[in-house]
Amino acid sequence: MLPAAPREVPRVLGRSADRPRRLRSLASLRELVAESAVRRSQLVAPLFVADDPDRPGAATLRPLRRRTVDATAREAARLRRSGVRAVLLFGIPERKDAQGSSAWDPHGPVPRAIRALKETDPALTVIADVCLCEYTDHGHCGVLRGARIDNDRTLPLLGRTARAYADAGADLVAPSAMMDHQVATIRESLDGSGHEDVAILAYAAKFASSFYGPFRDAAGSAPSFGDRRSYQLDPRNRREALRELALDAAEGADILMVKPALPYLDVIAAARERFDLPIAAYQVSGEYAMIKAAAARGWLDETAAARETLGAIQRAGASLIVSYFAGELAAERQDRP
Ligand code: PBG
Repeated sequence: MLPAAPREVPRVLGRSADRPRRLRSLASLRELVAESAVRRSQLVAPLFVADDPDRPGAATLRPLRRRTVDATAREAARLRRSGVRAVLLFGIPERKDAQGSSAWDPHGPVPRAIRALKETDPALTVIADVCLCEYTDHGHCGVLRGARIDNDRTLPLLGRTARAYADAGADLVAPSAMMDHQVATIRESLDGSGHEDVAILAYAAKFASSFYGPFRDAAGSAPSFGDRRSYQLDPRNRREALRELALDAAEGADILMVKPALPYLDVIAAARERFDLPIAAYQVSGEYAMIKAAAARGWLDETAAARETLGAIQRAGASLIVSYFAGELAAERQDRP
């Protein structure tokens, strides 16, 4: 919700009283009056696990690189040392089919990575993305009936996938397929298999965005025909996004996510106002790539720009932020002015 009329209209007191710059004169003083700060421990690093990380299409942006299970465990350990204590896993399977059946294969890249991560570091929060687009040969997030995505035949497959990840030891599962009732289906599947303690991070308001490009290259998940506008949200619709958030909350989501982040700060702020659940935001691959590309040309200071965007996302109301900058920023000194 956009802020209503200002609560307090400043009364001009004159030149000596109205000096907001007084509190900006020293770095240490600015720290004293800072209203917010992004903590490393609220960042989540996405990681791409592949059966065969050398397959063509592997992205060149470093945090989007495909890794083997072992390399994923090494990267997670590195992240942990720099203060990032949560990862979000995506899988790139060897085999794709019409159903996306590798998604729930217990020997697939994601379950194997979950087990490896939990074995080496039980204190790491492991979140597994639940979607079919990386696993289907047509690249859509659900199964097809003709050229349409069949919502209700997709649901049990998402339930099965979430269960496979919970069986492997995931702390949270994160459904991102934007099928109606996916959260309720996954909650039932988890509860029915003894995973009452596994939480759901719902990609509740996920927009049909043009900022997913680098991800689709990394994950090899671009749709082979059409686009995702029949299931992801129309970027023009804030009220519809709030309805999606409310539905996922009612279906049992533990955390509500808005995605992408920076172009949808109004939605993050509205979600924060309206719901008492933790709000997450996903600073997606295109948001990361824009800053990287501009910095590579010398047009932006990369670290400063990255920090500013994460700060904005947090200020809007996100408690946890998924970001490809997580590793790079955490490795930096935190007390940099
Ligand atoms: C899968 C999924 C996508 C992203 C996260 N999960 C891609 C898509 O919807 O096409 C995008 C993340 C990013 O761009 O960083 N459904």
